[in-house]
Amino acid sequence: MQESRCIMVTGGLGDIGKATVLKFVHAGDFVILNDLLEVKAAETQIVSWGIPQEQWLYLCADCREREALHEAFDALEREGRLPSIVIVNAGVVAPVPFLEMSPEQWGFHLDVNLTGAFHVAQEIAQRWVAQKVSGTLLFTSSWVQDVPQQGISAYCVSKSGLKMLARTMALELGRYGIRVNLVAPGIVDAGLSARLFREGRADPNTFISHIPLATLQTSAEVADVFWLLAQPEASYITGATLLADGGMSLFQFHPPSSKETV
Ligand SMILES: NC(=O)c1ccc[n+]([C@@H]2O[C@H](COP(=O)([O-])OP(=O)(O)OC[C@H]3O[C@@H](n4cnc5c(N)ncnc54)[C@H](O)[C@@H]3O)[C@@H](O)[C@H]2O)c1
Repeated sequence: MQESRCIMVTGGLGDIGKATVLKFVHAGDFVILNDLLEVKAAETQIVSWGIPQEQWLYLCADCREREALHEAFDALEREGRLPSIVIVNAGVVAPVPFLEMSPEQWGFHLDVNLTGAFHVAQEIAQRWVAQKVSGTLLFTSSWVQDVPQQGISAYCVSKSGLKMLARTMALELGRYGIRVNLVAPGIVDAGLSARLFREGRADPNTFISHIPLATLQTSAEVADVFWLLAQPEASYITGATLLADGGMSLFQFHPPSSKETV
């Protein structure tokens, strides 16, 4: 069995975040969860997951606020809790047609999904370099980093930007032994997508009919991909996207519901 590691998961209280936290904690790792919820409420929530108290800590910080993040990382460093694997997972989506999108709506996506990710990534990378830690950074991207989708242009742009952020970081930080990769899930029956399904703003069956594997993804299936990239066997992988979308992004010319074969 491998030694226990210290992992950080941002957006750790969200659905994919939670599944990821559980995956690593159950394997014996220590996990730092970061999210927006105030400490007491967050801790109550995490306790309800039934994971051992000595295997996690919660860090309340908004990834858009650099000063607060900086202080939080300083505190972790003082306590000897600097993570060696950071999963930058916090994210938002608020669908709106391009023609109706306000500059604020545009900015909201980029501030959280891209600039917030940059803040977390730079804070940890600077510390890893200073302390000679060969860390691993993983970003939660999406299949839409490469494929435009109706009504979520700002979200698509933010994930596309994240892809280039990860690739440029991989290029610059490889010499320090730091690996930087992306996980690109498909349509997950949880979190952001599930909220849109509940609100009637998206139809899960329409998605299912377009997914070659013909089923929505689970949060646990996303967590499994983070797990793969965090293993020693992934030691030569950097600057890569692990696309885990059930084939969602494969080009389909025929209506997927059609039984026709060519
Ligand atoms: N659900 C999907 O279908 C899907 C598909 C592909 C990619 N993703 C990505 O997965 C990641 C997790 O999303 P999810 O579906 O679990 O949604 P979620 O809403 O359940 O989780 C997102 C978490 O991020 C936190 N967060 C939001 N803004 C933050 C901020 N400024 N600072 C710190 N934390 C903040 C939220 O409080 C929430 O707990 C996101 O990056 C999302 O883009 C989701």
